[in-house]
Amino acid sequence: MGKIIALANQKGGVGKTTSAVNLAASLGVLGKKILLVDLDPQGSATSSLGVSKKSLRFSVADLLIGGCRPDNAVIRTEFEGLDLLPANITLAATEFDLIEKEDAESHLRRALSTLRDDYDFVILDCPPSLGMLTVNAMVASDGVIIPMQCEFFALEGLVQLMTTIGQLKRRYNPRLAIIGILVTMYNGRLALSTDVLAELQKHYPDRVFKAKIARNARLSEAPGFGVPVYYHDKGSAGTKEYLRAAKELLERI
Ligand SMILES: Nc1ncnc2c1ncn2[C@@H]1O[C@H](COP(=O)(O)OP(=O)(O)O)[C@@H](O)[C@H]1O
Ligand SMILES: [Mg+2]
Repeated sequence: MGKIIALANQKGGVGKTTSAVNLAASLGVLGKKILLVDLDPQGSATSSLGVSKKSLRFSVADLLIGGCRPDNAVIRTEFEGLDLLPANITLAATEFDLIEKEDAESHLRRALSTLRDDYDFVILDCPPSLGMLTVNAMVASDGVIIPMQCEFFALEGLVQLMTTIGQLKRRYNPRLAIIGILVTMYNGRLALSTDVLAELQKHYPDRVFKAKIARNARLSEAPGFGVPVYYHDKGSAGTKEYLRAAKELLERI
């Protein structure tokens, strides 16, 4: 049974999608079988893998409301070991519909219950909010990875996120673990970055990934080509750092 891991942070633009796509692809390169689930109505993970959002026959939205069989919605990709459960803007309406349903928080858990057997890991790319889609992700998951930029307000947001994770864990999903905080877009020459990192390490000593992701142009270009960074530039710092983070993830889980 594959482990389900959510990449979550209610803040937008912190590197959730970049980390979900590139951790998933790196784990695939390391020989694992991966399902990447796009849970953001913006569908950035979907386009990052070169899949057109407009021409989807089925998406994760159909799966959440029981509108298709799980294997109908899964797309095989050209990347090693990597399958995709895509999303597009229809997911926004689905999130709204879910709220009215019974067991609104556990639809994703149910949808993935048999699908997960086909994979070593199911990676969930969450939207930038703590709404019903993120709640569904946390309820379905074995663990959470929190991508974080070392900025002034980051720690405040983190405290709020940790509180929410604690509440969901008590109420719905006792096995939910915090796998780690992954520092993204890191710049070791900025005092603010190093200060925030030091604070993070002080408050959450065992939780911060040793692998840090620096700002790297290849990482921001790759989605434009519809490929994970490994398939855009194997020698880039971004490729190496996400491979390192993927290996650390295998040790942490
Ligand atoms: N390490 C990085 N180096 C350079 N650009 C990055 C890096 N990580 C993310 N980005 C860019 O920052 C923006 C926001 O990242 P994204 O992964 O979409 O965040 P989120 O999913 O949290 O909203 C995107 O344009 C992405 O390409
Ligand atoms: Mg995103």
